[in-house]
Amino acid sequence: MEQPSPTLWTKKDLIGIRELNRSEIECILDTAPQFLAVSQRASGIKKVPLLQGRLVVNWFHEPSTRTRTSFELAAKRLSADTLSMTASSSSHVKGETLHDTLANIEAMRSDIIVLRHSCAGAPHMLAADHSSHIINAGDGRHEHPTQALLDAFTMREARRKISGNPVATLDGAKVALIGDVEHSRVARSNIFALTRLGAHVTVCGPVALLPSQVEKLGVHSTTRLEEALSDADFIYALRIQKERQGSGLFPSIREYVKLFRIDRDSLRFAPDHALVLHPGPINRDLELSTEVADGSRSLVLRQVTNGVAIRMAVMHLLANSRTRQ
Ligand code: NCD
Repeated sequence: MEQPSPTLWTKKDLIGIRELNRSEIECILDTAPQFLAVSQRASGIKKVPLLQGRLVVNWFHEPSTRTRTSFELAAKRLSADTLSMTASSSSHVKGETLHDTLANIEAMRSDIIVLRHSCAGAPHMLAADHSSHIINAGDGRHEHPTQALLDAFTMREARRKISGNPVATLDGAKVALIGDVEHSRVARSNIFALTRLGAHVTVCGPVALLPSQVEKLGVHSTTRLEEALSDADFIYALRIQKERQGSGLFPSIREYVKLFRIDRDSLRFAPDHALVLHPGPINRDLELSTEVADGSRSLVLRQVTNGVAIRMAVMHLLANSRTRQ
């Protein structure tokens, strides 16, 4: 395998997309294809020894299937040793602080910590005081950087395939983010990534679920699905956060389905070439119809495949970063 060049990468941690410039985002996206090739090897041996002897700790304080397994697989495909911790199985339940728990893990010589936490800012706080490389796997409503990277990678890959241009970018691509933008770390990270990569982003959802000054992030905002989809190359359905329904912010599910669901009927508003993404887990037939989720215009499973390669790229770049910031 050709060795990816980590020369452009200088950051110790991956906390958010907001802190990255375009060339740093592209550095990760351009490193991933070589790892995608590892997962698709005809020999069936889906491993490279780049992180052999290093310890990756998956530390998840919130439920997760896709992101946790994706990180674990990525670490294993880089030949790292892996350890998994959940909130309920750690000394957190006995009152230990995050700092103390991490200091103890570091005393056992961890190299990379993958942290998911309900508190926005938890990964940032730990990164400032600890020498392990910290990867944010989702912190509260703040950011979910690897999700946005795998989404941007998947859209760029589709554009390259459709145009036949192997170096096509997302410049000028039109992306519609649909649903609960206000509470979504996936939407925030995607807005930062996509706008930096030159895409035009429109956010669309019920008015109470659109952040009040979202235009300041460089996106267009509308409550009309027809308008949002009219020129979209990519339609990104966000998960309906049913857990927030009691808060009064959310219209009834029935009304949401009628006005905002991505299904065969609403896709009539979109150009024929528009493709559909979703971060998972899908509430089938609520924000996205089963027919579209499993149909030929869906990139949902491609996102999952690409997620492993993106996370391999991130771990490789961090572990080989030249400068510790
Ligand atoms: C998202 C998350 O947890 O932020 N899921 C994921 O990581 N694949 C999206 C969501 O749960 O709404």
